[in-house]
Amino acid sequence: RAEVVINGSSSPAVVDRSNESIKHNIQPASSKWRHNQTLSLRIRKQILKFLDAEKDISVLKGTLKPGDIIHYIFDRDSTMNVSQNLYELLPRTSPLKNKHFGTCAIVGNSGVLLNSGCGREIDAHSFVIRCNLAPVQEYARDVGLKTDLVTMNPSVIQRAFEDLVNATWREKLLQRLHSLNGSILWIPAFMARGGKERVEWVNELILKHHVNVRTAYPSLRLLHAVRGYWLTNKVHIKRPTTGLLMYTLATRFCNQIYLYGFWPFPLDQNQNPVKYHYYDSLKYGYTSQASPHTMPLEFKALKSLHEQGALKLTVGQCD
Ligand code: CTP
Repeated sequence: RAEVVINGSSSPAVVDRSNESIKHNIQPASSKWRHNQTLSLRIRKQILKFLDAEKDISVLKGTLKPGDIIHYIFDRDSTMNVSQNLYELLPRTSPLKNKHFGTCAIVGNSGVLLNSGCGREIDAHSFVIRCNLAPVQEYARDVGLKTDLVTMNPSVIQRAFEDLVNATWREKLLQRLHSLNGSILWIPAFMARGGKERVEWVNELILKHHVNVRTAYPSLRLLHAVRGYWLTNKVHIKRPTTGLLMYTLATRFCNQIYLYGFWPFPLDQNQNPVKYHYYDSLKYGYTSQASPHTMPLEFKALKSLHEQGALKLTVGQCD
């Protein structure tokens, strides 16, 4: 039986620091791409050996109680206590229980989305996943509006909401949360120390203002399980990015997966500059050795899956 070859190489992959986008030309082109159902099912089955998105998407209420001590996944010596508010917001059942979707969009945050006109196509998918509370309203033409699940690393509160220093920033965050309107808000609260207060602020805001979101806090085993899957397939990532985590989870409940806004390179396929994020002025830093991510390497793996029809990458304009 043929194995899934993800990065096209059997030797341990080295960190690809190349920014030469020409090397990343996406083939087949959009109109020629065909979904490979057999391969998608095989990948789902393989990933299920490492994790089950239905369970690992969130810790459930029954498994923790207020006061429990948790060791951070990446800082094992640091701990946090499960607060009353966090406990209140843990879901009783998995937000993905028995969920299956025909097509899903995962929207990364690369500036390659700007002027893509992909908004309508993205919104047409049955389930749309976004990352790190990225703004949509002002960019709707290119990124769409529909949001079924959105992630929020605690660092977003610092980066995009000035650590809620005053009432204006608190109000801004509150408005953004209200706009989620019933979707899943996925907060990796147990990954790394340093985000504790930020997670607490958000939890407090949600409860105090009865914000209509379904909170989810990924399981303690998710990160290592995802990394394990990719390492087993010779994709030597350090810490999986949010985007790769979302793809790995989505294989469980999405038949076809479409990726937009995944492009960790400063030039596009036509050698035009690309912003790191479509919505802010953050600079490229993820190719440096100090970064916990290996984005270009992840991209290479995703590109290989695109070529085999397991997922579809869109890195240019939508038709
Ligand atoms: N991404 C990308 N190319 C970029 C920017 C982002 O492919 N130029 C993808 C990555 O998979 C990333 C996701 O889009 O995880 C969301 O982007 P971002 O919010 O920037 O995530 P990170 O800053 O990488 O945050 P994290 O540490 O959670 O991965």
